[in-house]
Amino acid sequence: MDPDAFRSAAHAVVDLMADYLETIESRAVFPAIEPGSLRPLFPMSPPESPEPLEAILADYRRLVEPNATQWQHPGFLAYFATTASGPGILGEMLTAALGQNPMLWRTSPIGTELEEVVVDWLRQALGLPDGFDGLLTDTASTSTLIALAAARETCGAEASARGLAGRDDLGSGLRVYASAEAHSSVEKACMTLGLGRASLVRIPVNERFEMLPEELATAIAADRAAGLRPIAVVATVGTTSSTSVDPVAAVAGIAEREGLWLHVDAAYAGVVAMLPDRRAPFAGWEGADSIVINPHKWLFTPLDASLLLTRRMDALRAAFSLVPEYLRTLDRTAPVRDYNEYTPQLGRRFRALKLWILLRWFGLEGLRQRIERHIELAADLAAAVEADPDWELLAPVPFSTVCLRWRPSAIAARADEPAVADRLDQANAAIIDAVNRSGEVFLSHTRLAGRFTIRVAVGNLRTEARHVDRAWELLRDAAASQAVL
Ligand SMILES: Cc1ncc(COP(=O)(O)O)c(C=O)c1O
Repeated sequence: MDPDAFRSAAHAVVDLMADYLETIESRAVFPAIEPGSLRPLFPMSPPESPEPLEAILADYRRLVEPNATQWQHPGFLAYFATTASGPGILGEMLTAALGQNPMLWRTSPIGTELEEVVVDWLRQALGLPDGFDGLLTDTASTSTLIALAAARETCGAEASARGLAGRDDLGSGLRVYASAEAHSSVEKACMTLGLGRASLVRIPVNERFEMLPEELATAIAADRAAGLRPIAVVATVGTTSSTSVDPVAAVAGIAEREGLWLHVDAAYAGVVAMLPDRRAPFAGWEGADSIVINPHKWLFTPLDASLLLTRRMDALRAAFSLVPEYLRTLDRTAPVRDYNEYTPQLGRRFRALKLWILLRWFGLEGLRQRIERHIELAADLAAAVEADPDWELLAPVPFSTVCLRWRPSAIAARADEPAVADRLDQANAAIIDAVNRSGEVFLSHTRLAGRFTIRVAVGNLRTEARHVDRAWELLRDAAASQAVL
């Protein structure tokens, strides 16, 4: 593709992208298709001969766009939103054109140093002290894996050098603590790091789904008495199911007293710390050894971008640095940052570019306004739910996610009887199914205290009051066709 051909093709692609974004609301958020129905639409084998771009783009419009889950749709209220904002998309385009691999400073001076700049900009925006340094990864799962690898390294087990298999000197094993509501990525990190799922101790939560610090202290003491070796605690600010907030300051106090690594998972909610008036849920997080926040969740950044902040870059390096001859840079004596030494993988994306563009285009002010608006939209919905006697909130709403269910007032007193509880679960599952079939909005669910829970998670850049209002209307319409229990 010579430069002229590239230029005209790229213009055509930009038009396609703009058309897509302009018409996004005309599409169903989740397309009405069945699993397995797409694969037969594509040839069984790759083309032998080159095909014209027009044909490829025509197929893209016909086969790809309509069969995507429309994460860019303002009615996307499921899971946690990921929006590719305009400046974020432009950043991705430029990233692709530059083709950087900032594995070493040498392989991308700008990729390396702009990452340092953007990480520090974000740290300041979040109100964290300058002892925090960090890096960008693909996902919170990877960030947490890296943090727990660093924790494992600092516990004195020399795991990266000696491994963990057959180690009698480690007592009965290493232990990591997280609440019963912590994300599965913590458990996966334990699996991946050779600690095993059994190493993760799930600490009970209160009725607000927040970790009970006294239970944490008890669990650590019991494990020490049993010859186990506690190494890390994960506190979550904004859990996946209910967005509950663990008491970070109390957990930090325990971690410090016990000499444990504290990792704070704020993958979704962390960006709220950019709003100085809303920092209360984060009190104490400056005492963490590491913190993860995903710009690709609520900072309008296209996948992927996860920010791992840490006060202990040296520990990350101890866990992952391995420099073979072919990665040595021979022509310099002053040390530079080679980011590959802090992560399991070598090659890495130039994620700082899109963040630099996005932070400048919105400005912190623009980002704060949009996040604040989402919090307000969720609060308005929560108020409407509370005012309706046939619906109930199943968790507090500290950020922008509302957990609710239909529970007709006539059966409120019997709602916990097993037969009624089952029927409520089924009814709410049917309600969410009907709402999602409308294609106008897309919701997801979870289970809280055993109850089927509908989640309305506001976080898409394009979501306005009318979309949340419509979701609420669709929910009540769908409930109206349920038989009264
Ligand atoms: C609290 C929390 N932590 C971690 C993750 C994992 O994020 P990622 O998909 O970036 O690995 C999620 C995903 O929703 C989450 O909600």
